[in-house]
Parts: sequence; C-alpha cells; structure tokens
Amino acid sequence: MRFENRVAVVTGSGQGIGETYARMLAVEGAAVIVAEINEQQGQRVADAINGDGGKALFVKTDVASTDSCQALADTVASQFGGVDYLVNNAAIFAGMRYETPMEVDLAYYHRFLEVNMNSVLYVTRAIAPLMEKRGGGAIVNQSSTAANMDAGSGGFYYSLTKLGVNSLTGSLALELGTKNIRVNAVAPGPTSTEALAGVPKEVIDNIVAGLPLGRLGTT
Ligand SMILES: NC(=O)c1ccc[n+]([C@@H]2O[C@H](COP(=O)([O-])OP(=O)(O)OC[C@H]3O[C@@H](n4cnc5c(N)ncnc54)[C@H](O)[C@@H]3O)[C@@H](O)[C@H]2O)c1
Repeated sequence: MRFENRVAVVTGSGQGIGETYARMLAVEGAAVIVAEINEQQGQRVADAINGDGGKALFVKTDVASTDSCQALADTVASQFGGVDYLVNNAAIFAGMRYETPMEVDLAYYHRFLEVNMNSVLYVTRAIAPLMEKRGGGAIVNQSSTAANMDAGSGGFYYSLTKLGVNSLTGSLALELGTKNIRVNAVAPGPTSTEALAGVPKEVIDNIVAGLPLGRLGTT
C-alpha cells in the first residue's frame, strides 16, 4: 500500500500499458482517475478497479484539448481535493498509420503531434498546480525506445513525438523541480498490448529478433 491516501491521474488508461499503470497504482492504494478518450474502455477499467476493492473514477478526456484537460483537473480537484501523481501515457499507438514525411496527410500529422507530444504539456499545465498546492508530486511521461529509432522506420512522426516527450520532460523537470514536483520519462521497448494485435506476425517476429531477451515486454 505504498500509495495509500494518494491520488493518481493516468491518461490513456482504457487499455494496454495505461490500464496496467492504473490497476497497479490502485492495488498499492491510490485513488486513480482513468483519463481516457474511449468512454467504454475507460469506464470498464474504472469499474474493474472499483470491483476489485480499489478506488477509481473514469473522466472522459481528450488530452489534445486544453479545455478537456482543464475540465479533468477541475473534476479531480472537486472530487478528490488534489493530485499527487500524473502519468502522461495517452498516445495514438493502436492503429497508427505508417506514412512518409513527403506523403503524410498533414491533418493526421498535426493531430498526431497534438495527442502524442503536446498533450504532455497540456495535461501537465492543468494538473501540476494541484500538485503544487499539496506541496509536491511526481509526473511520469511515457516515452519509447522509438525515440532512438533509425530514420526510415515507418511512422517517423511517432519517433519525433517521443524525442519531443524526452525534451519536454527535461524542461518540465527543471521548472517543476523548484516546486518539489519530480518529472521523469519511461522509455519501454516493444511491449505486448492490444495495440500490437493488428500488426502482422512477420513484423512482430522481426522486432523480436532484434530484442536482447528475444521476446516482447509485458505491461
Ligand atoms: N506497446 C508498446 O510497444 C510501447 C512501447 C513503448 C512505448 N509505448 C507507449 O506507451 C503508451 C501506451 O501504449 P499502449 O501500447 O498501451 O497503447 P494503446 O494504443 O493500447 O493505448 C493507448 C490508450 O490511449 C488512449 N488515447 C488515445 N488518444 C487519446 C486522447 N486524445 N486522449 C485520451 N486518451 C487517448 C487510447 O484510447 C488507448 O486507450 C503510449 O504512449 C505508447 O506510445 C508503447
């Protein structure tokens, strides 16, 4: 129960790695806010946590919308009185398109950067003031080993956003550290989640062949 009496917001926690963050924080005693754009999935995770004896609330959130992020912060403040932890995990990952720099649809590209990178700024700006009021907190941003992927790997904008997340993490850590809020990033390698379900087996086999343990990670 390391997180008893603590409040944690996890974005994109309707499935995959985010769902596991939410469930494990709840197992350790935290009240968890499932901030997710997919209503059905977000509610499912909150219900499961509550059903297992934990404490969770689903708040429908689009992390790419500053209004939605502020509404999330307002709801958390009124229902829980504050926040101790934030995991910026949400991203367009399942079903991601693979397009080249010269061919990518610009509307898609802009939305991708908003959801996968700028959202880290939007959610943090909405939530960090609540942590400050509590005297501090901790933020974890979800990066990826894809930040270091070779140019030419499909979905170049995915690597671009994770490089951006790394850079934002450093800048936010410097600024928020003065308010006793730690900011770090986690960069997992390829991990088995629903997002990989649609990826052809030969592509997965190829990825796994390049991994030291010869297998995908687990959440
Ligand atoms: N699975 C991997 O191999 C892997 C490896 C390294 C890093 N990551 C990163 O980990 C995180 C989770 O990955 P995953 O495999 O669980 O992905 P996933 O696609 O299974 O889950 C992402 C979740 O984010 C939600 N989401 C998408 N857009 C949103 C928005 N605008 N607002 C709120 N929620 C939104 C989705 O509905 C979904 O529930 C992502 O940041 C991903 O880039 C994944």
